[in-house]
Amino acid sequence: MTILVTGANGQLGNEMRIISKGSKDKYIFTDVVDASEESIAMLKKLAGDDINIDTLHLDITKLDAIRKMVSDNDISVIVNCAAWTNVDAAETAGDIVETLNASAPENLAIAMKEVGGLLVHVSTDYVFGGDPYNTPCKEDQKGTPTGVYGLTKLHGEKKIKATGCNYVILRTAWLYSEFGKNFVKTMLNLTATKPQLKVVFDQVGTPTYALDLANAIMTIIEDYKKEWNLRLGTRNYSKNGVYHFSNEGVCSWYDFTKMIAEIAGNTACVIQPCHSDEFPSPVKRPAYSVLDKTKIKIDFDITIPYWVDSLKKCIKSLQ
Ligand SMILES: NC(=O)c1ccc[n+]([C@@H]2O[C@H](COP(=O)([O-])OP(=O)(O)OC[C@H]3O[C@@H](n4cnc5c(N)ncnc54)[C@H](OP(=O)(O)O)[C@@H]3O)[C@@H](O)[C@H]2O)c1
Repeated sequence: MTILVTGANGQLGNEMRIISKGSKDKYIFTDVVDASEESIAMLKKLAGDDINIDTLHLDITKLDAIRKMVSDNDISVIVNCAAWTNVDAAETAGDIVETLNASAPENLAIAMKEVGGLLVHVSTDYVFGGDPYNTPCKEDQKGTPTGVYGLTKLHGEKKIKATGCNYVILRTAWLYSEFGKNFVKTMLNLTATKPQLKVVFDQVGTPTYALDLANAIMTIIEDYKKEWNLRLGTRNYSKNGVYHFSNEGVCSWYDFTKMIAEIAGNTACVIQPCHSDEFPSPVKRPAYSVLDKTKIKIDFDITIPYWVDSLKKCIKSLQ
């Protein structure tokens, strides 16, 4: 099979490069930007000099370009790692956020519908948050986003479903990796350089190491391949649907930061808990956005690592 990865130079896309190394399938990595020198160096450090660092240009807002890429390369699966991911900036960025988070995934879904392929699309816990929760959110719970980012991601999910393509939508949360900018890298730097730091404790969720998410995506692709081989006639995937994936466990951003500092040995920095209203932002974040992962664990027989164990692995890679 040939598998297309979009947004390949982002956090998750780079982990897909690592996790797919050695696969019997052919992976094509695409983005609108070239890989940075920093990312290429990290890829080689983590996966060796023979890691695939190539990037073909593909703008997922352009349906004709997607169609051409799919037909020229006989693509059977698309893994969409591209998105507008800046939650605060989404409030004022205008139409591009809806275009990238809703219309573009619809383009990918249309292209997969036309060839009977599968779209693996990544969504977010921020499709929830408008209602107060104190239990983990299930896949069929009503979306109640609090900002433009969550709303446009929810629109993207609906548009994908409406095309009738084979799809797996994976909602994830608090994503971090060795690549790009993220909370872990920011806090590693701040706890190493600042004498004290305040971090919110009234927002609770679960961190997700993008390598673990990439691993889950590979499991889904392998499952799809088994079925695809058996049912070439119909090509309807029995596990089409929405799934939740984060690491195991629950913490606040404050606990997350304390653990980052402890693992890194940044003990000189005094980290104090504070309320969200001390850091006003354009979007109200959910107070409790824990995802219930029962469905993915049962349907795909996935064992999910505890968030502290994965955090240790990522920080070790960064050091
Ligand atoms: N980050 C989180 O905390 C988080 C939490 C929950 C869910 N998610 C979801 O997880 C997925 C992966 O997130 P991530 O953090 O890996 O994202 P990321 O690091 O921001 O990577 C996204 C990549 O897509 C590229 N891109 C932008 N516009 C494009 C276009 N028109 N066509 C093709 N590629 C384009 C970006 O390029 P530029 O850098 O030039 O924009 C970037 O390389 C996303 O769907 C996101 O919504 C993320």
